[in-house]
Amino acid sequence: MKDQLEKLQKECLEAISKANDLNQLNEVEVKYLGRKGELTNILRGLKDLSNEEKATIGKLSNDIKNSLEQEVATRKTALEKAQLDKQLEDPTFDITAPGPQIPHGHIHPLSQVQEEVEQIFTSMGFMVMDGPEAESEYYNFEGLNIPAWHPARDMQDTFFIKDKQDRKHGKMVLRTHTSPVQVRTMEKYGAPLRIIVPGRTFRYEATDASHDTTFYQVEGLMIDKHISIANLKGVLKEFLSRLFGREVKVRIRPGYFPFVEPGLEVDFSCLICDGKGCRVCKKTGWVEFMGAGMVHENVLKAGGIDPKKWQGWAFGFGLTRLVMMRHGIDDIRLLLSGDLRFINQF
Ligand code: FA5
Repeated sequence: MKDQLEKLQKECLEAISKANDLNQLNEVEVKYLGRKGELTNILRGLKDLSNEEKATIGKLSNDIKNSLEQEVATRKTALEKAQLDKQLEDPTFDITAPGPQIPHGHIHPLSQVQEEVEQIFTSMGFMVMDGPEAESEYYNFEGLNIPAWHPARDMQDTFFIKDKQDRKHGKMVLRTHTSPVQVRTMEKYGAPLRIIVPGRTFRYEATDASHDTTFYQVEGLMIDKHISIANLKGVLKEFLSRLFGREVKVRIRPGYFPFVEPGLEVDFSCLICDGKGCRVCKKTGWVEFMGAGMVHENVLKAGGIDPKKWQGWAFGFGLTRLVMMRHGIDDIRLLLSGDLRFINQF
């Protein structure tokens, strides 16, 4: 085997010195040093040797491999330099011409809109909060007045995480909404509060043009004294008109969420079809945009806030849907598809 290795070393060195351009050198490298190359082939026989031989031959083959790799690298530098020198001698070669364009990355449309939303709300005095995506059942449900037996749990079917337990609160889920951060923030900062929480959320959904299993929401929460739905309407109107820079019709209807009382659903007129009806708005002309309402007193209590002294509203909207409206995207699944033909348009 020793002879075989030395023979291979000699052949390879010769081939390296004979390689006249980078392509040829690459072929030599693959032939002798590649994963399916001749050196690897010889080393397959190592297993049949005695332990002693294995040690010496193993070392020898390693030394040969390293020295050959070094030779390849040296030859490569020399060939590259020769190539450049040749180009420079060519009178038609323009050294000042721009090189090949290096493609630039850019911010994903979801992040672009998220940043705008954050700017608008921070200018109105809101803090931007964050929370865990893998959340305890307590913060995702119980803390929000949704006990285990409550039928409202079925409204947000989710992915449970096997074998992972929260130390204090038991079972873990991929959060179905950004609302868990309401109680987390109340516990941390108390009242008064003005926060938004942009973040990724997950649901066990049958996907279609407007529903995905992973999507983004933005939670809003305002707690203070003498707060009413009029404040909510004012904040939303200001937010939407600044975001869209045009008039967007908003429709408020009664809705049910266990963590608010009274509860509201806020829709806006579909900007893809101008309210005429399309597959995104399911031919209704309206897109379901957010759930909202006055924070339920059980939620305030869970967050350690006295409902007799403080009250507030909360909302949660689909950031992904907002991005769709912004750019006239008619299938939500495109946004996280990773398809560069789609993403490079923004
Ligand atoms: C909620 O998630 C409540 N947490 C919102 C809330 C917060 C209500 C605070 C009251 C107070 P809902 O399930 O309706 O509510 O979802 C809110 C928004 O998320 C929807 O209006 C929609 O825009 C978006 N959304 C929901 N499911 C999906 C989905 N599968 N794909 C894309 N967007 C979705």
